[in-house]
This record gives sequence, C-alpha cells and structure tokens, in this order.
Amino acid sequence: MFKSPMITINFIAADAHSTAVRAKIGQSLMEAAVAGGITGIAADCGGTLTCATCHVMVHEPFASQLPPADGEERAMLAFTAVPATPASRLSCQIRLSPALDGLTVELPASQY
Ligand code: FES
Repeated sequence: MFKSPMITINFIAADAHSTAVRAKIGQSLMEAAVAGGITGIAADCGGTLTCATCHVMVHEPFASQLPPADGEERAMLAFTAVPATPASRLSCQIRLSPALDGLTVELPASQY
C-alpha cells in the first residue's frame, strides 16, 4: 500500500526547547506544526494569509532553498507580533517537499 512520504521538521521554541515533528510531503509547514501540537504556532486564519500568527524564522541551509516570499507574504510579515527578521517566513506559505527533510525553524516568543 502506498504511504505518503514523511519528513522531519525541528521546531525550536523561544526557550530553546526543540521538538521534532514528522510531517507529510505536500502539507504546509503551519499544518505540520498544528498537527504536531506545536503550540508556538497560532495560525488563527487557518492559512489564508491574513493573521501573521504562524511566524517562524527558518534556519540555513533551508532558508535559501525556499522559494522567496511573495508580495502578499512580505506584506503580512510587517504584522508579526515579534518583529520579522531576514529569516522570517509565514509557515502557512511554506509547502513541504522531500528536500525539506530536517528543516529547522525557530518560533518567536509570541504570536500576539
Ligand atoms: Fe494566518 Fe499563516 S496562518 S497568515
């Protein structure tokens, strides 16, 4: 039977606690975080790019492998609770692929 491929994502909380989550290819990073019980991702809008409460900071080498944020995502990054950095992305806009196995992201101290 076909099993959808899984990858591992590491979420590092603001207190430096790290949690590894198994995630499905094709999910958004936000969906993987919510399914994995990562409480540091609020995702109030459910991925419709209207809340900016799914903010993460993406570690290299993955950050530079991601497609760049489009205009709408860049605009919403102005509304994150903790100011965005050059590594900041909205996790609902990151689609998981096999190349992102081992992806490591930091969570901001707050999403509000
Ligand atoms: Fe709302 Fe990402 S979940 S902007």
